Amino acid sequence: MHDDVARILLSRETIRQRVAALATEVVAASAGRDDGLTFVPILSGSIVFLADLIREMPVHMRLALVHLSTYRGTQAGQPRIVADLSHDVRGRHVIIVDDILDTGRTLTFVRDMLAQREPASVRICVLLRKPGKAPASLHADFVGFDIADEFVVGYGLDYNDLYRNLPHIGVLRAECIAAAAQPPR
Ligand code: IMP
Ligand code: MG
Repeated sequence: MHDDVARILLSRETIRQRVAALATEVVAASAGRDDGLTFVPILSGSIVFLADLIREMPVHMRLALVHLSTYRGTQAGQPRIVADLSHDVRGRHVIIVDDILDTGRTLTFVRDMLAQREPASVRICVLLRKPGKAPASLHADFVGFDIADEFVVGYGLDYNDLYRNLPHIGVLRAECIAAAAQPPR
């Protein structure tokens, strides 16, 4: 599995340090709202990031899960709800958490869906952001890393549901993308 990665973009240690700093940023920017924080991770891509992020935050917080499916292979698709929000967010200070902001379609969809549930506020936290593809109307409040526009896997990010368990983030070998395109035997 590790051999399928052509190049490591972000090492385990680089991610660990940045995630800890990001957690500090989120806590500092949430002063006065500590009691009402609810994190809404978008499953499945955000789970590894979320698990590390929230363990760096010494404040009261709750979770409300939403499960979407967006991607098929490396091509973006329309977001689809697999499982709706697990908890009520009315009156809560919500922070949506996702692995990556690419075209912004997924986050726009979730943000608009949450707005109808009457939260006190909605902010967005992503580990990765690809440049220039999301509309200006979609602002990420907290961003771990800006990366180039290439398809990456690991640390929760998948290619056809594989590679989420890689501890680092890397670029897949072209052969692996081609191989996965073949029908399963
Ligand atoms: P968007 O809706 O185009 O912003 O894409 C966001 C979703 O697409 C993320 O939640 C990811 O699951 C997936 N995605 C976008 N870019 C990548 C990538 O480079 N690798 C793996 N998944 C990606
Ligand atoms: Mg995905």
